[in-house]
Amino acid sequence: TTVDLESGSYGLDGHPDFMRKEMAEQPEAVRRALRGRLDTRFATAHLGGLDLDPVALRSVRRVKFLGCGSAYYAGQIGAGLVESLARIPADAEPASEFRYRNPVVDPDTLYVAVSQSGETLDTLAAVQELRRKGGRVIGAVNVVGSAIARECGSGVFLHAGPEISVASTKAVTTMGVSFAMLALLLGRVRDLSAAAGARVVAGLQALPERIEAALALDDEIAGIASRYASARHMFFLGRVSGWPVAREGAQKLKEVSYVHAEAYQAAELKHGPIALIDKDMPSVVIVPDDDIVVKNVSTMEQIRARGGPVIAVTTVDLPAGVADEVVRVPRGEAVLDPLVLGIPLQLLAYHTAAALGRDIDKPRNLAKSVTVE
Ligand code: AGP
Repeated sequence: TTVDLESGSYGLDGHPDFMRKEMAEQPEAVRRALRGRLDTRFATAHLGGLDLDPVALRSVRRVKFLGCGSAYYAGQIGAGLVESLARIPADAEPASEFRYRNPVVDPDTLYVAVSQSGETLDTLAAVQELRRKGGRVIGAVNVVGSAIARECGSGVFLHAGPEISVASTKAVTTMGVSFAMLALLLGRVRDLSAAAGARVVAGLQALPERIEAALALDDEIAGIASRYASARHMFFLGRVSGWPVAREGAQKLKEVSYVHAEAYQAAELKHGPIALIDKDMPSVVIVPDDDIVVKNVSTMEQIRARGGPVIAVTTVDLPAGVADEVVRVPRGEAVLDPLVLGIPLQLLAYHTAAALGRDIDKPRNLAKSVTVE
């Protein structure tokens, strides 16, 4: 897609900057990403661009997502979805490391190259390394006709629409949506029941409204951002499916506000970093609707017992008084929680950057697409 900013053919439409505009566009971007791809009759997804028939889909023994930065974290969300829905081992790896470690390329693995721009040099190089070694690689790319899309030859387009802001928002969300559909498809050719598949289909259909509800928390999150904008450091904590959400939240805050944010697996906190907790070190704790809510509650209690402020971002009802701030996003199909819980974190990063007077669309030292080593 060619975007001519100068001629105003793709403008801000009244928004103060592109990050804000693109966050607001997420419900529509998700609708586009889903359009024509959900099959309610067989409770599965159609991803024609994959070029994989059911026999080929069944032959996949492992899935590995490769991407850089936010695309890597989105891949980690994807790996969790594939493991939950299809029960295939899956993981994510930074594409920027891949070619340097003489990777073992396994013929039974489906590799997924994840990129908004389709031009990230490190991700392209990972795809080339895979193809050279005979690996099966598909793309999950936003920009049609981009280098990574062409090199992969097959895959899933994100349909997020043009993304201008350096900080990726709607592309990351549509990556998650695409991986949920891929996981559903891989699951439904295996042991995911029609009833369970139907719940995921319904959950995906309801996703745009859940995202709208999350975006409606804007004022509340602006208030939180103004209360914590003076913090020099912040933790972002999560367990299992909440962990990549925490990583992406920390990344967003660093990029646009320049506040140092460290994402950590909540359970690892007690093995060292808890020493950093004091009144000046707020923690954002991601609490999805899963089997380990009680573990996340105890993490929050441990932080508060040491004087650390806690901002909980959750889809569940938390016990009163467990956090200083609670950002509550509507409940829905729980497996999709990582896609919804990222939205308040985008808003937190945005409002913190605004409170600190940062140039939101042009953060220092960063380019929209990194085409150098
Ligand atoms: C996202 O907010 C970042 N600007 C950055 O991490 C980005 O996701 C990364 O450089 C990958 O870009 P791509 O998706 O275009 O490959």
